[in-house]
Amino acid sequence: MSFPKVYVENIKKNLLHIGSINSGNIGYNRLAFSNEEKKANEWLEEQLKDLNLSVYKDSIGNVHGRLGSLDKPAIAFGSHLDTVKNGGLYDGALGVIIGLECLRVLKEHGYQGVPLELISFVGEEANPLGGTFGSRATAGLIKDGDVSDVELEKFDLNMSKIKEARKSDNAYLSFLELHIEQGSVLETTNNQIGIVTAIAGISRMHVHVIGKASHSGTTPMNARNDALVSAASIIQYVSERATKQNNDIVATVGKLEVFPNSENVVPGDVQLTIEVRGSDWHEMKEFEQRLTDWMNANHRVEIAVGVQKHPNTLSVNVQKAIEKTCQNSKVNYHYMVSGANHDANSLTEITEAGMIFIPSKDGLSHHPDEYSSWEDIEVGANVMLQTILELSKKVN
Ligand code: HGY
Ligand code: MN
Ligand code: MN
Repeated sequence: MSFPKVYVENIKKNLLHIGSINSGNIGYNRLAFSNEEKKANEWLEEQLKDLNLSVYKDSIGNVHGRLGSLDKPAIAFGSHLDTVKNGGLYDGALGVIIGLECLRVLKEHGYQGVPLELISFVGEEANPLGGTFGSRATAGLIKDGDVSDVELEKFDLNMSKIKEARKSDNAYLSFLELHIEQGSVLETTNNQIGIVTAIAGISRMHVHVIGKASHSGTTPMNARNDALVSAASIIQYVSERATKQNNDIVATVGKLEVFPNSENVVPGDVQLTIEVRGSDWHEMKEFEQRLTDWMNANHRVEIAVGVQKHPNTLSVNVQKAIEKTCQNSKVNYHYMVSGANHDANSLTEITEAGMIFIPSKDGLSHHPDEYSSWEDIEVGANVMLQTILELSKKVN
């Protein structure tokens, strides 16, 4: 097979097309399980069928496109087409579009190695069913009772569909995800490729801050029990404690709801979510316990445990294949931990998973101004292509 190369033109055309499937006018909006996410995956299915690949949508909506036999384990790769609200052009979609282009180029070059499978996972971003939904179902990580049947029903899903989407431990020889870094490590260390060694864990606590609603005009300041003022001090404490940690723990309160949320009522209740991330689960739990003890000592709260995703190390074999590819193509690379979660994290459960990062301008992501250069994208796409070939060589 002559030396296959990916050129950025097709990637640019297809990525901009996916970006045009948008429900909003600020940034890109293809929310998890939305019509826009469905439309984007339907477009992907058409592209895969046009390449005469074996294409199917599984029982929960993940799209699979395979080059080669359906009866043998495959090298899989992919990412997600959903976005956060007012998100960026590249998060998730770039990995799917580059995977599509790799399949097209390899088919064009008469690739005959182990089967290759592109997967577009649904519901990667935070959503009521828990993020990385499609990949967690694929890896068998969603257990009975994790999500209520009532909630699943809202998305036309149920546990039997989730179980049907599960892949066995030998379905895939490896899984590779190309993704924008969404941070500024590659930019500040002047590297074009990140080789991900581990993916940070995520732990969320849903906190109900309890106060007492009352008239904003007649309630004296010293007689109030203002839930939003309590919530503000909790948010301040979370940020200060996380900043003082001498480890890689980060903590965010990104979601907050005020009740009754009226201009002339002292807030009676607040629902907020504290998200803690880090590469060491024990440190994360210790930090959370400290927050919990402080909140219980200083405010009236009810705390419910939310999404729990352990940090995972990624496959050394896949890391080495990426490194060899970078060395062969004289591309400078950097080993690093991912602070963002990814579908690859779920796939560590059933196969050897690895990730290729490309730089994000100013480290910005989950924002309309998210940007990666077409030059870095073309370099990343070719590292992806050659890493797939490197992994397939190891099998033959
Ligand atoms: O939340 C995350 O880390 C990912 O962007 N879904
Ligand atoms: Mn994201
Ligand atoms: Mn993503």
